[in-house]
Amino acid sequence: MSVAILQGSSGGLGLAVTRHILQKTRLKVYALTHSSSSDKISDGLGSLVRDGRLEVLTGVDVLEESTLERAAKTVREAEGKGSVRLIACLAGILHPEKSLSSVSAQEALSTFQINTLGHLLTYKHLVPLLPTKRALAQLKEEWEANEGDPAKGLIGASNSLCFSLSARVGSIADNERGGWYSYRASKAALNQVIRTLDHELVNKSTSAVAVGYHPGTVLTSFTRPVIGDKPADPKHGVFEVDDAVSHMTKLMSRVKRDGDQVFGGRCFDWRGERVEW
Ligand SMILES: NC(=O)c1ccc[n+]([C@@H]2O[C@H](COP(=O)([O-])OP(=O)(O)OC[C@H]3O[C@@H](n4cnc5c(N)ncnc54)[C@H](OP(=O)(O)O)[C@@H]3O)[C@@H](O)[C@H]2O)c1
Repeated sequence: MSVAILQGSSGGLGLAVTRHILQKTRLKVYALTHSSSSDKISDGLGSLVRDGRLEVLTGVDVLEESTLERAAKTVREAEGKGSVRLIACLAGILHPEKSLSSVSAQEALSTFQINTLGHLLTYKHLVPLLPTKRALAQLKEEWEANEGDPAKGLIGASNSLCFSLSARVGSIADNERGGWYSYRASKAALNQVIRTLDHELVNKSTSAVAVGYHPGTVLTSFTRPVIGDKPADPKHGVFEVDDAVSHMTKLMSRVKRDGDQVFGGRCFDWRGERVEW
């Protein structure tokens, strides 16, 4: 079966993307979570879990590499190598330091461990499960004889996708205001991880493209401590979760390896425009 793996699946964006994929595609979803229970995620998805396409893997903490290794083994044994069309890394934390005096070494370290290394280690263990270009071409022949691509346009039929939630504040060129030392630096480093990963994906002839994404300001428990109960304001890039997921999945569907626009190793925003490093 073709598979999507979502790391950070219980979060505001994570649960909504999981719901979207179950609703709009025929992919099987492996929802990885470190903090949530299987029941909590299933309850949040209601009747969508009935057809058996959701598998929740609990206790997958990106601070513990062995839990990522275990998750990869579970998917490989159940679905086989070459089954994974989408690896989405959504995990992230924010300690919004306003100035140097509020920087804590421990908080900065855990920000890097989750926002940067957490994505890197997830790719380390899951990328070997992506189909090679040749394997994807064979899968395409099988789909054409059956019901078509199970990703149903969420991902281009000629590629698979490594997708990381980054943030515009990780852009050094865009940093006109300062603040948020550790979050900005962890996302800038994540952007470098994405660029480097994309080179390896090409060199290893995998079918995948690696892309970073800035979703705008999305009203989740992540942003609430910083912006309070502000209402959505799409004109100024502040979105409800469902709108943010709609923009995000639109971008996912546009990504491809060949063509006039280069996607691999780049970061895009909710408008579909490139975020400069
Ligand atoms: N919301 C925004 O406005 C906004 C803007 C720009 C970028 N982003 C980025 O988008 C991503 C998701 O944001 P969100 O708003 O959905 O935040 P959220 O609701 O706080 O979700 C973040 C998720 O990160 C996961 N996580 C945290 N520590 C982890 C660990 N040790 N191991 C594994 N997973 C861990 C958790 O998932 P589990 O409990 O399931 O493991 C958590 O639910 C973040 O990377 C954030 O930086 C968000």
